[in-house]
Amino acid sequence: MADRINNAAGKQAVPALPRHIAIILDGNGRWAKRRGLPRTAGHMVGAENFRKIATYCKNIGVEYLTVYAFSTENWKRPEEEVGTIMKLLAKYLDEAIRTMEKDHIRMKVFGELNRLSPELQAMVQRTDEISQRYEGFQANICLNYGGRDEIIHAARRYAQDYAQGKVDGELTEEQFGNYLYSAGIPDPDLLIRPGGEYRISNFLLWQCAYAEFYFTDVLWPDFSPAELDKAIEAYSSRDRRYGGVKNP
Ligand code: IPE
Ligand code: IPE
Ligand code: MG
Repeated sequence: MADRINNAAGKQAVPALPRHIAIILDGNGRWAKRRGLPRTAGHMVGAENFRKIATYCKNIGVEYLTVYAFSTENWKRPEEEVGTIMKLLAKYLDEAIRTMEKDHIRMKVFGELNRLSPELQAMVQRTDEISQRYEGFQANICLNYGGRDEIIHAARRYAQDYAQGKVDGELTEEQFGNYLYSAGIPDPDLLIRPGGEYRISNFLLWQCAYAEFYFTDVLWPDFSPAELDKAIEAYSSRDRRYGGVKNP
């Protein structure tokens, strides 16, 4: 992939590589059902695939990867499925903490953490502590995350600061962004949804205002680095105008 975005002089010709990629990890359940397996088997393979894709993103020079792993709406699922997903997340975070130390990777968890187990919350805190030591590639995992929930929380915190006189003047978009989980992180350039659904499902509603969208029928457990290359290729041919005109 890296070759394709470099020109003959070896310099990056166009900003073809997104700085920040966001992915809705969808299709685990269907992947398993098609194989006659329980849905939870799909979540296991999906979690493993996240590791593969995160490593690939880091290697090709993507700076931020934000993935949607569990939404504020996913609690509606059968208790057994939710339980398995939570166990997988704990196992994954435990392993990730060790990898972060070894590879100097930064990782953040976006979401309302109060509803998670004390064990998971402690792991999240640990990943935050480790992340402060490093620079470079950052993976963000959205856990008990909802775009509307994030905006409401930010609004409440801003209102509190306002009432206490910590902020004054007119609220700007930039200021408001600092109250979101993604404070300090550039907005996603490319949003990928595998799994064949054409919707955003309450993901990064504020941050994706100008993201380029890429949808594919490939289910998340089958989403390989080659599929990511296809998404980046599609992204690199998009004309991002941000409401302006190209050649007036
Ligand atoms: C995404 O896969 C993982 C989570 C939402 C936790 P799904 O579990 O939604 O898989 P499908 O969409 O039912 O196939
Ligand atoms: C979105 O997938 C949430 C995550 C991938 C974590 P869902 O499978 O929950 O979304 P819907 O129900 O198809 O909108
Ligand atoms: Mg789904």
